[in-house]
Amino acid sequence: MLKFGQLLTGNIHFYPVSDHLSKIYRKAYSKMAAEESKFDEVPLVYKVRSMDLADMGRKQLDLAEVEMPGLMECRKLYGESKPLVGANITGSLHMTIQTAALIETLSAMGAKVRWCSCNIFSTQDEAAAAIAEAETSAVFAWKGESLEEYWWCTNQALTWYNEQGEEDPSVGPNMIVDDGGDATLLVHEGAEWEKKFEADGSMPDPSTVDDPEMKQVYRIIRQELQKNPNKWRTIAENCVGVSEETTTGVHRLYTMAENNKLLFPAINVNDSVTKSKFDNLYGCKHSLPDGLMRATDVMIAGKQALVLGYGDVGKGCAAAMVHAGARTCISEVDPICALQACMEGISVVRLEDVVATADIFITATGNKGIIMVDDMAKMKNNAIVCNIGHFDNEIDMNGLENYPGIERIRIKPQVDRWVFPDGHGVIILAEGRLMNLGCATGHPSFVMSCSFTNQTLAQKSLWENRGTGKYDCAVYTLPKELDEEVARLHLAHLDARLTTLSSEQADYISVNVNGPYKPSAYRY
Ligand SMILES: NC(=O)c1ccc[n+]([C@@H]2O[C@H](COP(=O)([O-])OP(=O)(O)OC[C@H]3O[C@@H](n4cnc5c(N)ncnc54)[C@H](O)[C@@H]3O)[C@@H](O)[C@H]2O)c1
Repeated sequence: MLKFGQLLTGNIHFYPVSDHLSKIYRKAYSKMAAEESKFDEVPLVYKVRSMDLADMGRKQLDLAEVEMPGLMECRKLYGESKPLVGANITGSLHMTIQTAALIETLSAMGAKVRWCSCNIFSTQDEAAAAIAEAETSAVFAWKGESLEEYWWCTNQALTWYNEQGEEDPSVGPNMIVDDGGDATLLVHEGAEWEKKFEADGSMPDPSTVDDPEMKQVYRIIRQELQKNPNKWRTIAENCVGVSEETTTGVHRLYTMAENNKLLFPAINVNDSVTKSKFDNLYGCKHSLPDGLMRATDVMIAGKQALVLGYGDVGKGCAAAMVHAGARTCISEVDPICALQACMEGISVVRLEDVVATADIFITATGNKGIIMVDDMAKMKNNAIVCNIGHFDNEIDMNGLENYPGIERIRIKPQVDRWVFPDGHGVIILAEGRLMNLGCATGHPSFVMSCSFTNQTLAQKSLWENRGTGKYDCAVYTLPKELDEEVARLHLAHLDARLTTLSSEQADYISVNVNGPYKPSAYRY
C-alpha cells in the first residue's frame, strides 16, 4: 500500500515515507482541516469562510468589472430606473468573482438577492466574502462544502424573511437564477411532498433513497414540512420565473415542461448563442487546461488526451488539448459531432480503444456512467481522469470508492490518487465534479460577461412581464435581437468594427438593417 508522500509521477515508484515526514504531512493536513472548519457567519445573512478575504475579493471584482462590458452596460442603462425593484432573487450558481459581478448588477438594478453556489467546490471564498461585506446579497457559500452543507446553503438562499424578521415564503424568492437546476428541483420536490403530506401525512424518508444528494433533499424537505407545510407551494405560486444557465439544467426543465410538472416559467439562457457558443466553448477551452495545470502541473504536450463528448464543451476542451500539443482524440455517440471532429483532424475513437494508452481523460457529455471503475482499472499509472460536465455522475466515483482493496491518497484538496491493489493509480480531479471550477476558478470574466448579460436580460424580461401572460409554465429562449445585442456590447472591448448593411443589401438578403441578421434556424 502507498502512503502519504510516495512519488506520484511517471512509472510507479514505492518510496516509503519516514516517520518524521509522515508527522509533517499529518500536521499539514490537520492544519488544513482546522482551517476548513472555520467560518464567519451572521445568521440568516451570510456564512462564508473568512471575511478577511473580502478586500482581496473586492480588488479582483474591480479587475473583473473592466472585463465585463455587458454587465457594466446593464448597470449604466438600468442603474437609475431600477427595473428589478421588488424582485427578490435567489441564485444558485458558482459563487465566483464573475458571479459576484452578476449579483452586484442585479442589485444595482434594484433586486434584493440571496445566493448559494451550485457546486460544493466552486466557491471562491474571496468572492463570497466581498459580497457579504458589500451587503449586495445574502450569501451562503464556501469552497469545500459537504453535501449536507451544500443543501443547507441552498435552503438558506431559498428562505426569505419579512420585515418582522420572520421566515416568510410569500416574500420570496419571486425569481430564481439557477445553474444545473438544484434550486428549481428543491422547490418542485418540496411542493410535491407538501401535497402528499396534506393528503395522507406522508413525509420523505432519506433512508429510502440511495443517491446521497437526494438524501439531503429529502432531509431538508422533511425538516421544512414540519415548520411550514406550505413553504414550497407558496414559493412556486409567487415565483415569476427561473433563468437557467447550463445545458444539464435546461435539459431538466424541458423534461419537467413535457411532463406538465413545471410550476413557473423558465428562460433557457444556455441556448442563447452568446452563451453556449461562447461560455461552453471558449470558456472551457480556457478553464480546462487551467484546472489541469493548477491541479497536476502535468506537461500536456505529447500526452494522449481523450475528450468524451464533442458538443459545445467538448469542442472547447478538444481544441485546448490540441493547442497544448496533446495527441487528442474524442468519443461521441452523435454522428454529426463525430464528423465535425474528423473534419478538425481529430480522431474519433471508443473509450476501450485508448483506455490503456491515454494519459488524460476528460468527460464532457452531460450524460452519466461515461468512465466506469473497470475502465479506470485498465488505465495507465497516474492517468488523469476528470469531468467538466455539470454533475458528478459521468465518472463512476461510487464504483471507485467501493473497489475492493483500493486506497485513496489525498494529494491536496480536489486532487486524489486512487491506487488499485495492483499498485497502479489514477488521479481524479475534484472528486469527479466539474474540474474547471473545483481545481481552478471557472471561466474568465470576459466570456462570463456574455453569459451573465443574458442572465440579467432574462431576469429583467421575466420581472417586467410578470402578470402579462407573456410567459406560461414553459421554457423560453431570449429573442435573437437580445442575443445580437449581447454580442454587440462586447465588441468595442475587442476593438471590433462592424460593417453596416445598406438598405439595398438588407433587402437583398431579406433582413432588417438593424438585425436580426439570421433566421432562427441558423446554427452559427
Ligand atoms: N464546466 C463548465 O464550465 C461547463 C460549462 C458549460 C456547460 N457545462 C456542462 O457540460 C456538459 C456538456 O455541455 P454541452 O453544452 O457541451 O452539451 P452538448 O449537448 O452540446 O454536448 C454533449 C455531447 O456529449 C455527447 N454524448 C452523450 N452521451 C455520450 C456518450 N455516452 N459518449 C460520448 N459522447 C456522448 C452528445 O452526443 C453531445 O454531442 C453539460 O453537463 C453542461 O451542463 C459545463
